[in-house]
Amino acid sequence: MSAPNNTPIVVIGAGIMGAGIAQVAAQAGHPVKLHDARPGAAAEAKGKLGATLDGLVAKGKLTAESAAATLARITPIEQLAQADGARIAIEAIVEDLAAKRALFRDLEALLGDDAILATNTSSISVTAIANGLKHPGRLVGMHFFNPVPLMKLVEVVSGLRTEPAVAATVFELGKAWGKVPVHAKSTPGFIVNRIARPFYAEALALLLEQAAAPEALDACLRGAGFRMGPCELMDLIGHDTNFAVTKSVYEANFFDKRFAPSLVQAEMVAGGLLGRKSGRGFYAHPAGAPALPATDAGGAARAVAAAREVTVHGSGAIADALAERAAAALATQGFGPARRPSSGWTGLAVDGARLVLTSGPTAAEWAADNGVDDVAVFDRPLHAEPAALAYAVNPGAGAAWHAHAAGWLQALGFAPVSVADTPGLVVARTVAMLVNEAADAVLQGVCDAAGADAAMKLGVNYPAGPFEWLARWSAAEVVALLQALDGCYRGERYRTSPWLQRRARADRHNRAP
Ligand code: NAI
Repeated sequence: MSAPNNTPIVVIGAGIMGAGIAQVAAQAGHPVKLHDARPGAAAEAKGKLGATLDGLVAKGKLTAESAAATLARITPIEQLAQADGARIAIEAIVEDLAAKRALFRDLEALLGDDAILATNTSSISVTAIANGLKHPGRLVGMHFFNPVPLMKLVEVVSGLRTEPAVAATVFELGKAWGKVPVHAKSTPGFIVNRIARPFYAEALALLLEQAAAPEALDACLRGAGFRMGPCELMDLIGHDTNFAVTKSVYEANFFDKRFAPSLVQAEMVAGGLLGRKSGRGFYAHPAGAPALPATDAGGAARAVAAAREVTVHGSGAIADALAERAAAALATQGFGPARRPSSGWTGLAVDGARLVLTSGPTAAEWAADNGVDDVAVFDRPLHAEPAALAYAVNPGAGAAWHAHAAGWLQALGFAPVSVADTPGLVVARTVAMLVNEAADAVLQGVCDAAGADAAMKLGVNYPAGPFEWLARWSAAEVVALLQALDGCYRGERYRTSPWLQRRARADRHNRAP
């Protein structure tokens, strides 16, 4: 069934999400009825929307005619019975299974047999909501993101009984409304709320072991192209909300330790440190994150001046970029870097010292494995622009290398951020875990790879999708990094997705002569 733009729609729940859904439906041309259990709430929501549209007209973003036409298409209704005649119902009421089931049973009695019933639930099983309906096949998830008029993503969530034609209809409807719909299977967190868990969890794990300050973690992830770091983002979302989502995904996965919430966040919630809304989270608000300690301005020049022989090890885009930047840094010295593309590692050998792109092991482990003391590991640069980059020096390195490692990272165009010597540092560890979670989602048929990429870019504004990162990295390297984490922490959190293991094996096979 298709849904032309004159298909009558009813939106139930005129709160933050319902009002936004009514707006986009009306803007697309649908006659929309809007209902809320609280008397007067639907009319109030329409009044607020009128003011928002007037603002857009004043800014020249909308014509007065189209604003008036959009508003005229929305009819607040006080009684649910007035929804009769609607062909599509979209529910955005309180996040409560019993309330949603009761509403859909009422709607089923009211609307024609071929009406589509959609739920905007963010965490409840679509299969569970459909249980008890006469026609469970016509219930589907249509999960919008906040604010609805601005966020492009819609997860079209199919439960066990959802008919494919119903999911296909709301998928097309989402497209017609200017959204990017992505098919998802009804599993805890659907796509975005599931794959995003490690973005917060890895930062919280690093904080738990005092590996870095929140502002250092935020700087590193912003340096990798994320709009906000995990700590400032949790402060913005609210720790109570973020913790509740983490707990719900954890519980819904039968307490799989992979999704376990963090003591760090539990303690903050218990203490009322909820983030911006309470004036205090990781940071005091509105001041926000404190500045990072200033980097030593002369460090780059001193490190370069002390070097006698520099070799860039490894091959690929990162090694090439390092070689180019090292050549520029050494221009004043009258010699350039040598290349050793076939080394088993990527980075710089500066005389007897090693500056190594993290592949998982800590600097101390790398030093022990290779019989060199002056070792520093640095994080995976994901962004072309010079940016904050985590590094850690082997605690057993000499004093000179402790200073020169940071100097060399500066000379290579990065803003070095010192963190504790932990496996996978900050960005590599976080991104490997995002890739791992996305791989499991694909393995379990929650979504396909393209869907995961679109969902993460549009639902939470990631600078790239997990499978786009993987394409620039390699499955074998991601697996190695996860194994280094697993070797250090044990437990379930860092277990490698079978999908990634298979991909790594397939890559090896394809490369074999
Ligand atoms: P809200 O609290 O702003 O609005 C809910 C509205 O539903 C209220 O106006 C309430 O009076 C009304 N309501 C409650 N029970 C009702 C019933 N039985 N019949 C009719 N109206 C009823 O909540 P919000 O944030 O708009 O969330 C609504 C739904 O959307 C929830 O399922 C939530 O999980 C989901 N969601 C929320 C997102 C968000 O960022 N706020 C994002 C994506 C989904």
